[in-house]
Amino acid sequence: MVTHPPTDNAAADRAALRARPIGMFDSGIGGLTVLHECLVTMPAEDFVYFGDTARFPYGPRTQDELRLFARQIATFLDDSGVKLLVVACFSATAAALPALQEQFSTPIVGVVMPGARAAVQTSRYGRIGVLATEATVASGSYVRAIAALDGGAEVIQQACPGLAAFIQDGDVTSHEIVDAVRRFTAPLKERRPDVVIMGCTHYPLIAPMLQRHLGRDVTLVNPAAEIAREVAEVLARQAIDNDAEREGSYRFFCTGEVDAFRSVGARFLQMPLDDVEQVALESLAALVDGDHTPARPR
Ligand code: DGL
Repeated sequence: MVTHPPTDNAAADRAALRARPIGMFDSGIGGLTVLHECLVTMPAEDFVYFGDTARFPYGPRTQDELRLFARQIATFLDDSGVKLLVVACFSATAAALPALQEQFSTPIVGVVMPGARAAVQTSRYGRIGVLATEATVASGSYVRAIAALDGGAEVIQQACPGLAAFIQDGDVTSHEIVDAVRRFTAPLKERRPDVVIMGCTHYPLIAPMLQRHLGRDVTLVNPAAEIAREVAEVLARQAIDNDAEREGSYRFFCTGEVDAFRSVGARFLQMPLDDVEQVALESLAALVDGDHTPARPR
């Protein structure tokens, strides 16, 4: 078989694709804990992060609502020309990942499977606890993801209504949070898991408190590092990773107040957070409901 060297045009298209940013979205600022890990793992990549702060929290939302929100934001980011999309929200991944993967040709990475994989690899006795929002627990995504990796593992889920909002509201050392953590970890601890997944973007911010209440014998899993590893692997596999010599940038969109996003977000990202732009919910809705013409040809 004769193989032809890529034409100049094909090589230029590939270079342009590699130079595009990675899109990432979450219900608000929690996904910045995932972005933080991605910035460390992929310092040469550019990132565009979208926080749906006006509609936070996603935890009490129905699966249909979450699928709609995810579709709107994925359309916004896809139109802006991202080369890969990360659904950096457990509730949105649980409700919408398969539907998004069906709709978009852009590669899409969710956050449930990487967490499940890290837990299965870490667990010694196959008793895996999951702390997550009520939407994530109701979807059954973790149960399915863990069963697909280890049919013999037992999954013990604990919904933590309101916990993400407490963490986002500010004082992560408040007595309110200690009480909530005590209330949510007690029933989980009784079932004796050997591994517990922090299945919500906000929970890594209170990891020491969770560890104290679960006990030293429990291994607490933060899926963020495994998510970043998976994103890097998809980029490399598809040969769309950026030039390793450069230093990447990052910028933000949010649906709520820009100043609030900036100040609360910096705490989650633990890096400076300057370039933030607001997107109106009506314009997001129009992308899906209205007569939508993509901003860029596909
Ligand atoms: N990003 C959401 C999640 O991981 C945070 C919680 C929420 O929006 O209710 O599920």
